[in-house]
Amino acid sequence: MCGIIGYVGREAATPILLAGLKRLEYRGYDSAGIAILHDGELSIRRSVGKLHNLETVLQDGSLQGSIGIGHTRWATHGRPSEQNAHPHRSGDIVLVHNGIIENFLTLKYRLESEGYRFESETDTEVIAHLIASIVRRGLKLEEAVRLVSQELHGSYAIAVMSVSEPGRIFVSRSGCPLVVGRNDHGTFLASDVTPLLAHTRDVTFLDDGDIGLLTESDIFILGPNGEAKPRQIVTIDWDAEAAEKGGFQDFMIKEIHEQPQVISDTLRGRFNYELGEADLPDLAMTNEELINARRIWIVACGTSWHSGLVGKYLFEEMLRRPVQVDIGSEFRYRQPMIQKDDLFIAISQSGETADTLAAAREAKRLGARVLAIVNVVGSTLAREADGVIFTRCGPEISVASTKAFTGQVVALYLLALHVGRVRNVLSPEEGRWWLDHFLMLPGHVEQVLKQEEAIKAVAAAYYEKRNFLYLGRGINYPIALEGALKLKEISYIHAEGYAAGEMKHGPIALIDEDMPVVVLSPKDRLYDKSVNNLMEVRARNAPVIAFVTEGDRQLDRLADYVLSIPEVHPLLTPILFAVELQLLAYHVAVMRGLDVDKPRNLAKSVTVE
Ligand code: AGP
Repeated sequence: MCGIIGYVGREAATPILLAGLKRLEYRGYDSAGIAILHDGELSIRRSVGKLHNLETVLQDGSLQGSIGIGHTRWATHGRPSEQNAHPHRSGDIVLVHNGIIENFLTLKYRLESEGYRFESETDTEVIAHLIASIVRRGLKLEEAVRLVSQELHGSYAIAVMSVSEPGRIFVSRSGCPLVVGRNDHGTFLASDVTPLLAHTRDVTFLDDGDIGLLTESDIFILGPNGEAKPRQIVTIDWDAEAAEKGGFQDFMIKEIHEQPQVISDTLRGRFNYELGEADLPDLAMTNEELINARRIWIVACGTSWHSGLVGKYLFEEMLRRPVQVDIGSEFRYRQPMIQKDDLFIAISQSGETADTLAAAREAKRLGARVLAIVNVVGSTLAREADGVIFTRCGPEISVASTKAFTGQVVALYLLALHVGRVRNVLSPEEGRWWLDHFLMLPGHVEQVLKQEEAIKAVAAAYYEKRNFLYLGRGINYPIALEGALKLKEISYIHAEGYAAGEMKHGPIALIDEDMPVVVLSPKDRLYDKSVNNLMEVRARNAPVIAFVTEGDRQLDRLADYVLSIPEVHPLLTPILFAVELQLLAYHVAVMRGLDVDKPRNLAKSVTVE
């Protein structure tokens, strides 16, 4: 997720754009840039790293002009660098982009064959050259933007200027937010309302397919067929900080609700449905390497270790491939018996976790092929790994990891599909079946999120308790661990995740009426066993919170609270349960009056041992 900004009016554009980018930094901050059009001259300044680097470049005040666009980047294609920073230019055309263009390689090859030379690794530069190629045929910028929008597959919000059409900014969106507004001094565009609030609270949210024209004095919205559309004005009553959180109270709850989009973005453009295959160009591993990998290792820390454990069940059940999962701090000091040609998968949101990095370096030293599943493009792990699958979550601001976990599990689904097809363990039909069900996950998560009020009621009943126990079986044992970790780290309540079948070998001694027990009991082959465990807990008077498959009424009389997830294949239940347990932990912590986004003692990235 990136942030785009634009202004055209009677005031100096540079300070307005910089202030706006500062308000958008939470959307991405690995590079930034602005373009200003003045007296027929197009000037572009870009800097890698945080926004203050760009501010330093601009403090000489050399960029004069009252029309410009700006961008703060969260890299998806191409590492963080000045060359990959936006704005991107092609001749008289300059633009900024938020989103992911799925068919950019096809378009890039076509443009290269037409003689266009690319300076960056981004998908965005393709859009600039495409628009320039149409304008060069004599069409106006508005028509070029409309025609190009029809060629792009994926998600985008773009703002475009041309030297040959001064005083005008065109915008277009599909699948990514774009909002415009005006005041007496000019007109404004941005990825969300946050930067606009300094100038106006009356804004218009563009719809997919809309094209907008901003001039010094007005904004014109055109529909997909060029028809004029009346501007729907919305008055925003949030303050800027609330706007950064999208109107949510905390970043954590915002990020929990972003998960349907994260699933869509992480899947986007990474499969060939006809062949029933995943398409992972950054994997940088040949089919032979994947087929001949002697052992598969997954190593990570914290929540990422939990997604790795989900990966173990996934690979073993979907591919019949044994997987060794470990936490980074143990693996690195155990003289691990990893060998040349093993596949070592390191999972990390930040890509900077010291224990995971050290484990990956040890694996590489011993000759294994290292694959990183990571959220931060350009992070140390992403750069040092042999291959990478980026989870396209955007920045995860809250210390407690939520959407990154979901992105990691989706990346593991894609990897399992890829390995299954490469090893011929899965047929094309089976591959399409799995893709159909992966693509339904965003909708299923939306359904789970609708249970937030019911989950809040559970939190209200137990937020003052001092101990919780989370029980899960099979692929949901890691979810029991993850649910307990979420509660621990943001509510400071002691919570343990346990394999449900193991509870009777000791922890059952802890159980009494003061220890709420969460039991994950989906309709799968272990359901009856889970119910047995629930009965064992019930017999000791513990409050029981059961999470079941929609329509299962058997536990209504046995549990104090019953929440449900949509009926899906057992291997697809982890994300759905995880989202419910994220909501439970969040609301317990809020009811305890704690700082949910910045829990005590924790850091977002543990870069020390
Ligand atoms: C998760 O909620 C925690 N904040 C923590 O366990 C985290 O998952 C762990 O430190 C690993 O971080 P990484 O994914 O950036 O490597």
